[in-house]
Amino acid sequence: MTYEAIGMAAAAVAKATGRDRHTLAVVLGSGLSDYASTLPGARSIPYGDIPGFPVPKIEGHAGSLVSADLEGSPVMVLAGRVHAYEGWELTDVVFAVRTAVMSGCSVVLLTNAAGGCGDGLAAGDLVLIRDHLNLAARNPLIGPNDDRLGPRFPDMSSVYPGDLLALARGVGERVGVPLKEGVYAWLLGPSYETPSEVEMARRLGADLVGMSTVPEAIAARHMGAKVVGISLVTNLAAGISPTPLSHADVTATAEAARQRFTTLLDALLPELAKR
Ligand code: HPA
Repeated sequence: MTYEAIGMAAAAVAKATGRDRHTLAVVLGSGLSDYASTLPGARSIPYGDIPGFPVPKIEGHAGSLVSADLEGSPVMVLAGRVHAYEGWELTDVVFAVRTAVMSGCSVVLLTNAAGGCGDGLAAGDLVLIRDHLNLAARNPLIGPNDDRLGPRFPDMSSVYPGDLLALARGVGERVGVPLKEGVYAWLLGPSYETPSEVEMARRLGADLVGMSTVPEAIAARHMGAKVVGISLVTNLAAGISPTPLSHADVTATAEAARQRFTTLLDALLPELAKR
């Protein structure tokens, strides 16, 4: 996807929302997509109405962009994402996030459901992503680089900057939603990992395993945005969990944690939008 295509999408978003710029983008992971409609001043556009936007097909991932006004800051919520395991090219996977950054978002909050493999993690935990491991052997920046988007070899030493981690941690404490911290490893899916793959990821430093987020984080950082990542541990990862994994259990845990996640986001979004 070209710079021009992303620009066209950003222009369409500005026209449809009546907001020229947004300051914060939020990608809602599994089970959270309803959150966007509760926000003040919410204006919703189906992804299908935005040129170039891929439209999600998987259950539980609606596809709409919601623009809201949080204490005077325009926030773009991406309710629903597409994944590489659905067969999408990574340029499509990161298209919405690129549109958000081109629309002015200097901070991108990425949320997801993940399996927990770090010490002390339990299903239901909310975990701030301290860093990531790209174990999918794919990268959204492969192909010709457009220097107008970002550099050919972007630095990744601070994708999730410490000041924003501290801010999120503080907000969590203030609203009584405890946040753990860990490293997220991206595996391609859609099969869940084997116990040996989870053990590999764990030994390499992963606390969380999941099938999203990393390509979006790389693309956002490529364009100069700062990233905050929050995982909901929907299950202990394979081999750590005593029972087989099922998508139904994953969505049930996400549903059970929704109120806590919502409380956190209500307090965190206005703070991040001011950064
Ligand atoms: N592995 C990968 N992705 C996931 C998991 C998991 O255990 N749980 C939720 N998303």
